Amino acid sequence: MDEMTNIETLQAGLLAEIDAADTPEAVEALRVRALGKSGEITALLKTLGAMTPEQRSAEGPKIHGCREAVTAALTARKAQLETAVLNQKLAAEAVDMSLPADMPPSGSVHPVSQVMDELAEIFADMGFAVATGPEIEDDWHNFTALNIPETHPARAMHDTFYFPDADAEGRAMLLRTHTSPVQIRTMVGGNPPIRIIAPGRVYRSDSDATHTPMFHQIEGLVIDKGITLGHLKWTLETFLKAFFERDDIVLRLRPSYFPFTEPSAEVDVGYKQEKGRRVIGGSGDDEGHGWMEVLGSGMVHPKVIEAAGLDPDEWQGFAFGTGVDRLAMLKYGMDDLRAFFDGDLRWLKHYGFSALDIPTLSGGISA
Ligand code: PHE
Repeated sequence: MDEMTNIETLQAGLLAEIDAADTPEAVEALRVRALGKSGEITALLKTLGAMTPEQRSAEGPKIHGCREAVTAALTARKAQLETAVLNQKLAAEAVDMSLPADMPPSGSVHPVSQVMDELAEIFADMGFAVATGPEIEDDWHNFTALNIPETHPARAMHDTFYFPDADAEGRAMLLRTHTSPVQIRTMVGGNPPIRIIAPGRVYRSDSDATHTPMFHQIEGLVIDKGITLGHLKWTLETFLKAFFERDDIVLRLRPSYFPFTEPSAEVDVGYKQEKGRRVIGGSGDDEGHGWMEVLGSGMVHPKVIEAAGLDPDEWQGFAFGTGVDRLAMLKYGMDDLRAFFDGDLRWLKHYGFSALDIPTLSGGISA
């Protein structure tokens, strides 16, 4: 009888305190006090061992009932308080998304990304799509199909990074040394006419102030019927005028050699020496001017068209390629290529572009 009152009093007292607890921590303290190692209910449970079987079958259910009631109350109160804490936090930390931001977004667009966006915009306006290819290439796409057979000295010239193992077809695997394999992939996979640019990373084992083992190129390819050198020259002139944002760009096509184009031409632009810097524009033959090489180009070699599975009697075209990093340096006045890939925040802040200034022909190509 006495024991009964004790259990009831204990339970009523604990339930009242649990109900009054106002933090999850207070609930936890009550749990320890009631059900912990030396808790009040734990102590009651321990008394069962010393009881006679009759006492135990009378008291046992009461004590267990008490424990269950208190455990349930603790769990419920804890959940209730945790929800309240969460709601309070959500209310306190709520952000009104309709308010104007008090800081512009930080971080900047890398000059290489900026120039690639500019190029995509310029060439999209001339009807070119953007194509991509893998950076891990096989030697067929990177060399053989581009009319660079195994014994060709150009293979050695490219300072190629090779992988130790060949692919399933026995082709040597490498990091592409130029974006020209995208020409092959586009011709093999697509239906002419083709007008694409292919910007991306390329790799050569070479490193100094103007060379890094990884750098960026952009490839251009046009395949159609009746394509001539005139189309090539017009395309490059239109591109360079839009890119450097001036009309006085003068081009000089200089006979050159690439295994995958015939004839081949290196493209120079005229520049003027101004305060120790080269400013693009004007004829390179004028007083105080010079010529600077900016692109490799030519008419796609019939062997390349054939290797890609097209009939060279039906389809002709031109291709060109240039370094994106170099274009960025020329346009935005950086002089050390290595700084492009150092990730120095001060450099990025200085030379980076706002993410919100997207280059458009109507709104201005440079940000
Ligand atoms: N792939 C050549 C290079 O890396 C550039 C090039 C592309 C030349 C297309 C002609 C035509 O130097």
